[in-house]
Amino acid sequence: MIKFLHLTFVLLSISSFVGRVYLAEKRPEILEQKWIKIGPHIVNSLLLLTGFTLVFQGSWLSAEYGWIIAKLIALLGYVGLGIVAIKSQGDLRWKAFAGALACFVYIAIVAVSKHAFLFF
Ligand code: HEM
Repeated sequence: MIKFLHLTFVLLSISSFVGRVYLAEKRPEILEQKWIKIGPHIVNSLLLLTGFTLVFQGSWLSAEYGWIIAKLIALLGYVGLGIVAIKSQGDLRWKAFAGALACFVYIAIVAVSKHAFLFF
């Protein structure tokens, strides 16, 4: 159940991120709406909360947990580059967007493989 919620917030997080970058490019005025500003913070907080719940539920800290640290570091990249992608313009926006997507894909692969260095 918690994993299902976690995966739901994963999908909501990436779709709201891609949606906000699209709006930042095409209709930046819409980003000023309150619910668009607050919604992603709620989704990302719940993503973190369900992630930490899964860590304790699965007793992952008493096992090999390097992959969880890797997920958290890449999460900083996803969030940081995501902010740059939404707030900047032009070339920098698309470089940051590509970087944020790469972090997201890395996090998802690490989540499934449970190995920080991908398939090792
Ligand atoms: C963008 C951020 C995230 C993405 C894309 C993501 C992705 C995923 C995916 C795809 C799974 C399912 C893995 C499987 O069934 O084999 C998963 C499970 C899990 N995630 Fe995340 N996650 C994210 C954030 C987090 C965070 C912040 C934490 C906690 C620090 C976390 C901890 C976990 C744990 C412990 C599991 C369960 C592993 C298991 O029991 O198999 N995740 N995540």
